Amino acid sequence: KLGFVHRFEAGTASHRPPLLLLHGTGGDESDLLPLGRAVAPGAALLSLRGPELENGMPRFFRRLAEGVFDEDSVRRRAADLAAFIGQARTAYGLPAPVALGFSNGANIAAAVLLLHPGVLAGAVLLRPMMPLADPPAVALDGLPILMLSGAQDPIVPEANARALAEVFRRAGARVEHTILPAGHGLSQGDVTAAEAWIAGLA
Ligand code: MLT
Repeated sequence: KLGFVHRFEAGTASHRPPLLLLHGTGGDESDLLPLGRAVAPGAALLSLRGPELENGMPRFFRRLAEGVFDEDSVRRRAADLAAFIGQARTAYGLPAPVALGFSNGANIAAAVLLLHPGVLAGAVLLRPMMPLADPPAVALDGLPILMLSGAQDPIVPEANARALAEVFRRAGARVEHTILPAGHGLSQGDVTAAEAWIAGLA
């Protein structure tokens, strides 16, 4: 049995990498399916539910307060997610996926990139922040990463998102970081930018 509650939709466009969909706090495995279909038509979609509950709201790791993370939980859940990706690839016959994560889902994807390089083929991180106070040195040679931040995001300070982009760049990743005129919530600009970036991968 695979370790995360999830939904899988087989793809029809074999040139597209599968997308690993990771929702924000309070979402579930159905939340990001429409976004995934919009930004990567025909791609296989593997959409997960976060295994932690915060007042009934699914998350991918625990936090002590908004923006203050339980780093033991970040590490444990990043390892669980990395293991799950391997199992799901075998079960569904998939190449390495590109993560598409929003908010808490973007943060666990960032943690997987830093702690388990090689598991993801790339990542679209929507409103991400630094998941670990002291990120490990890692080699992400050429890995494509798109980060979309919101200029008016009340949860993620711009400097925090820029620092995360810098960590990925120092690791050798091919990082595109765009600050959109948006808050923490997603905007049409996110959909347009993510779609164009994903189209450039294939
Ligand atoms: C987090 O907890 O990962 C961030 O505060 C974003 C959120 O989920 O609200």
